[in-house]
Amino acid sequence: MIDINQELESKRARARLGGGQQRIDTQHAKGKLTARERIEVLLDADSFEEWDMFVEHRSSDFGMQEQKIPGDGVVTGYGSINGRLVFVFSQDFTVFGGALSEAHAEKICKIMDQALKVGAPVIGLNDSGGARIQEGVASLGGYAEVFQRNVMSSGVIPQISLIMGPCAGGAVYSPAMTDFIFMVEGSSYMFVTGPEVVKTVTHEEVSAEELGGALSHTSKSGVADRAFDNDVDALLMTRRLFNYLPLNNKEKAPVRASLDPTDRLDVSLDSLVPALANQAYDMRELIDKIVDDADFFELQPDYAKNIMVGFARMAGMSVGIVANQPLVLAGCLDIKSAIKAARFVRFCDAFNIPVITLVDVPGFMPGTAQEYGGIIKHGAKLLYAYAECTVPKITLITRKAYGGAYDVMSSKHLRGDVNFAWPQAEIAVMGAKGAVEIIFRQDKADPVKLAQREAEYKAQFANPFVAGARGYIDDVIEPRQTRKRICRSLIMLKDKALTNPWRKHGNIPL
Ligand code: HXC
Repeated sequence: MIDINQELESKRARARLGGGQQRIDTQHAKGKLTARERIEVLLDADSFEEWDMFVEHRSSDFGMQEQKIPGDGVVTGYGSINGRLVFVFSQDFTVFGGALSEAHAEKICKIMDQALKVGAPVIGLNDSGGARIQEGVASLGGYAEVFQRNVMSSGVIPQISLIMGPCAGGAVYSPAMTDFIFMVEGSSYMFVTGPEVVKTVTHEEVSAEELGGALSHTSKSGVADRAFDNDVDALLMTRRLFNYLPLNNKEKAPVRASLDPTDRLDVSLDSLVPALANQAYDMRELIDKIVDDADFFELQPDYAKNIMVGFARMAGMSVGIVANQPLVLAGCLDIKSAIKAARFVRFCDAFNIPVITLVDVPGFMPGTAQEYGGIIKHGAKLLYAYAECTVPKITLITRKAYGGAYDVMSSKHLRGDVNFAWPQAEIAVMGAKGAVEIIFRQDKADPVKLAQREAEYKAQFANPFVAGARGYIDDVIEPRQTRKRICRSLIMLKDKALTNPWRKHGNIPL
């Protein structure tokens, strides 16, 4: 019996060594943790149950039958984060560069299938050179099996991807179909084809960092949601993100009691909006002052900064926050910001997380760059996302809500449940100046008359009461009362039930 146990232990020790001590040292020298060390940081202590430690590839081409490493380059299993179930796969770069073989794919698929059956999220720690070149089409097939499961899981269980090394080809398409992507600065890359292929095909010389580093994907492409200094930070922040999410689409996100009173008033909010309509202010300040413990987990903070999205808690409940940022492009909606917010709203809707929308928007960004880029189609994504969304929707207009952007930003007409405005809100087709220049064009040569018309327009329309008179705004509230009023609304909406008509799926303007 002892011999058998010893044999088992020595087999396990062999598997744990992956591609060998030398490659582990190389991994460490790059500032990277190994696949197993990453799981230890990510999961609760002693909670990891590993599966398929002894799986080997079945390839015999290119001398591969001589190179079999138990586990075949990926560590899979399940465990917990703050006591809540989660499935994990962690690719081992020390084994064929974490490249995906048929057997490696089967291991990932096995935990994805199980996660879907029991209704628990999947977190993928990606560190892979893509399809294992020696296996040819078998590895391509393996990737497609993973992709299919990514899609079947989408909107059913949360899927989170961490990019923790050079990820190419299939190793980026699977993360692209998951809900969130985190990267590690300086050691992770994502590209469909690496710099050498780029040079051969397009003669463009570009470094791996420039082509697919964390900065490129968090600020230019918008592919990644956040980037962190090192592996440990990225893993700990993933634990934080996980805490905001339900385990699946039938559950609600966990409620975390807070000592922050729901009826806390904040007098400083009364003077947040500057007296001059064209003066900017930081909407982030409002978020920090109304959410529980000033704790806001922002996503994509360096991409399309004219809109902010992220998770927070109010009255202990997870909420998704979407907020125009007047500090950047005056908070207007453009292609990137519309796509960013639409995807976030759809995530919240799929996973029963109420959406709080803070509005200060002068409209859609005009111009040829936007029109040629398809602002009509992309702006419609956000409109579509809010309109199909059935979770509790609470909207606050702090200042401007002009034109189509008023409609889009979770207005009453798109089934907003509770729509508030601050007293200084201006809800109109456009700003007073632009409006009088169009409707009183005949007075253009007379600046005094024009100014008078502008003042008249402002007095008549640049306020929240016209919308209030029609019931489009449920109440005009004092800024200091914002947290209290939103928390109460959230509690009232806790058991909201609303379903859309049956359909195979809608046709969102992609
Ligand atoms: C097999 C691979 C591999 C791969 C790396 N290795 N990628 N083995 N298949 N795809 C092996 C290397 O041979 C090496 O083995 C070890 O992993 C580490 O690789 P290095 O090149 O030494 O490391 P590094 O310099 O850090 O470069 C990492 C890399 C580079 C950028 C990932 O290896 C690379 O460009 N690999 C190829 C990427 C690629 O084109 N993949 C196919 C994508 S197509 P030894 O024994 O020396 O340690 C694809 C199809 C799916 O994925 C598409 C679906 C849409």
